[in-house]
Amino acid sequence: MKADQYVVIGNPVAHSKSPAIHARFAELTSQQLDYQRLLAPLDGFGATVRDFVAKGGKGANVTLPFKLEAFALATELSERAKIAGAVNTLKFEPGRIYGDNTDGMGLVADIVRNAGVNLRGKRLLLLGAGGAARGALLPLLQEQPAALTIANRTLAKAQDLLQQANSLSDRCELQTCRFEDLQQPFDVIINATSASINDDVPPLAATVFSKETLAYDMMYAAAPTAFLRLAVSHGAQCRDGLGMLVEQAAEAFALWRSVRPPSGQVLAEMRAALLASQA
Ligand code: ATR
Repeated sequence: MKADQYVVIGNPVAHSKSPAIHARFAELTSQQLDYQRLLAPLDGFGATVRDFVAKGGKGANVTLPFKLEAFALATELSERAKIAGAVNTLKFEPGRIYGDNTDGMGLVADIVRNAGVNLRGKRLLLLGAGGAARGALLPLLQEQPAALTIANRTLAKAQDLLQQANSLSDRCELQTCRFEDLQQPFDVIINATSASINDDVPPLAATVFSKETLAYDMMYAAAPTAFLRLAVSHGAQCRDGLGMLVEQAAEAFALWRSVRPPSGQVLAEMRAALLASQA
């Protein structure tokens, strides 16, 4: 029997590590599946998905720049996808396209399970108010932090996100500000800006970091990002987004296959491979 077909759809998509992650998940859980990269034309996401579904495709991960189009294409959405306003995981069933967003859950799983940092009662700082920050909002609030500050270069976007957060939690102390206004230390600082792509970092005062602070960058690279270098220079604990990548994939895999893969093991293997590629 032909193995079930899955893809990651993006443009570009050649760099995606998802096929390697899902192949390893499948191997470790003895699941028969085939997972490939699928490049969609910038103006052809919907047609690419429909073609894949017609050929019997069972599911897809969706990466840049199609997460909003995937949201629009889904015929049913998970609660967290609705709140994120974006979809990174599609599940195809007869007459139904189910859209989910596993990015925020992946972030929380990596912080809580892999880094061992409980978020309940903690003071969190979320840097950025774009798609990545929005996707993290509900899963972060579900951990019941004591306070969440959303800081963004464009304050109005942080305020929009705050409104949404207000409707999701009445227990967490919520506020917004500009980077320059931040002074007090936080327990966890999550960089959801795209500044790291340009090796840039939001202007943060040294006082927002302490030795106990976990500084988390949603991005990862072979070398630490500018945000993580800054955090280290102020004595904070640091973590990049490799674990988030593996954990969001694990959530998607569990949705498709109803089996939870050993994501901690796969993360350790990927970390070792990343370090070896640097040596
Ligand atoms: P993503 O899907 O990665 O979140 P996005 O929706 O375009 O991408 O959002 C990018 C986020 O990074 C925004 O919060 C953006 O700030 P603005 O809302 O002010 O544009 C933030 N960002 C990008 N480059 C930045 C930089 N160099 N310094 C600080 N913030 C930056």
